[in-house]
Amino acid sequence: MNQTVSSPQKITGEISPPGDKSISHRAALLNSIGNGSAKISNFCEGDDRTSMINCLNSLGAQIDEGASDGEFIIRGNGLNGLIEPTDVLNAGNSGTTMRLVSGLLSAQKFYSVITGDDSLRFRPMKRIIEPLNLMGAKVSGRDNNSYAPLTFHPNNLSGIEYSMPVSSAQLKSCLLIASLYAQGEMIINQPSNSRDHTERMLQSMGSNIRTEGLQITMSSTELNCIDVQIPCDTSGSAFWLVAACCHPNAKIKINNVGMNPTRTGVIEVLKMMGANLHLTNESFQGGEPVADIIASSSKLKGIEISGEIIPRVVDELPILALASCFADGKTIIKNAEELRVKESDRIAATVDSLKKLSASIEELPDGMEINGTGALTGSKVDSHGDHRIAMTNGIAGLLADGVTTVENSEAASVSYPNFWKELTLIQKA
Ligand code: S3P
Repeated sequence: MNQTVSSPQKITGEISPPGDKSISHRAALLNSIGNGSAKISNFCEGDDRTSMINCLNSLGAQIDEGASDGEFIIRGNGLNGLIEPTDVLNAGNSGTTMRLVSGLLSAQKFYSVITGDDSLRFRPMKRIIEPLNLMGAKVSGRDNNSYAPLTFHPNNLSGIEYSMPVSSAQLKSCLLIASLYAQGEMIINQPSNSRDHTERMLQSMGSNIRTEGLQITMSSTELNCIDVQIPCDTSGSAFWLVAACCHPNAKIKINNVGMNPTRTGVIEVLKMMGANLHLTNESFQGGEPVADIIASSSKLKGIEISGEIIPRVVDELPILALASCFADGKTIIKNAEELRVKESDRIAATVDSLKKLSASIEELPDGMEINGTGALTGSKVDSHGDHRIAMTNGIAGLLADGVTTVENSEAASVSYPNFWKELTLIQKA
């Protein structure tokens, strides 16, 4: 599918992005192995949600749509109540599904296999296979334990002390889920902070989890199901923040955005660049901070984005690269080599797209260098089959002169099925 976008005179309106994908996935998985039942409200939308729910339901989880939109009811099976799936599980395009569900599968008393789509089968899985096997699991993967399909044979797990080689919330969460089934204490040392939704949710569900600095310690416990009201996705909001900040005549209100400090790197970076962002209605929802954000036309300046903030802004780097095209001076993004192993090689895909729109941008091995020119020219760009690149290109179309055609635009539906509709609405509001 192709979408054509051009720059409107004015951007205005109110948006409520879908429920947070990371929190939704954790709410579904952890409640499925909890005791009792839970109501999840404002569950995320899109193909990744289907992948997670299908995998869990194939394991005997009881997840049903509730009475209202975005509501799901989960009846917990308890820690040991899952059943052997009768077919290969399919995580689709969702790295979070594959890595979190793998933590679960590694500890079950049955055999299972998980695979994914053409992108996911080439994303690194050694990072989870190695530590799971150190815990005693019997996990194997294609190409010398590097990639999916992954197979799991039953074995008993023990807690270990493990220093993560990459700062990855998916890896950390995989190990925490496995350690719910392990004998003895699990200690995880993180190189830097990444999103901590798993830790927060495990804590609320009654687990023995402790975080001290970058070290997480956990031991096995039963979990109590909890209701979760999911905030709107911080990463989904980032597209609208950049649209408003970079357009000369814009003001958008984004409702109920998740403000977990391990996710708000994008807000910190935009503020450092000089963005006009105003937070209102700050409150707590389901153990997570939330706020409404009002974003408006801004005079941005180039900065360096590197170091410990990278894992807290990792999904927003393509859209921040776009923002940098409209900033005064140079922006350098460094230490972001993880971008190369996301749903696409997001360094190559971002540079390819923005170059086609006549941006002054170059690839670095671990990031990008952008010289802000204050303008882009519409052209034909491709989503590279990656939802975040599709949406970055859509926002680029709102800001570029002339017409931008986004090819394979349907990729956005992985995390934001209404993205193109909302993009049209803010031009007409
Ligand atoms: C996610 C963690 C991040 C992020 C992904 C969602 C999660 O990946 O890129 O979109 O829900 O845990 P890594 O933790 O592997 O960097």
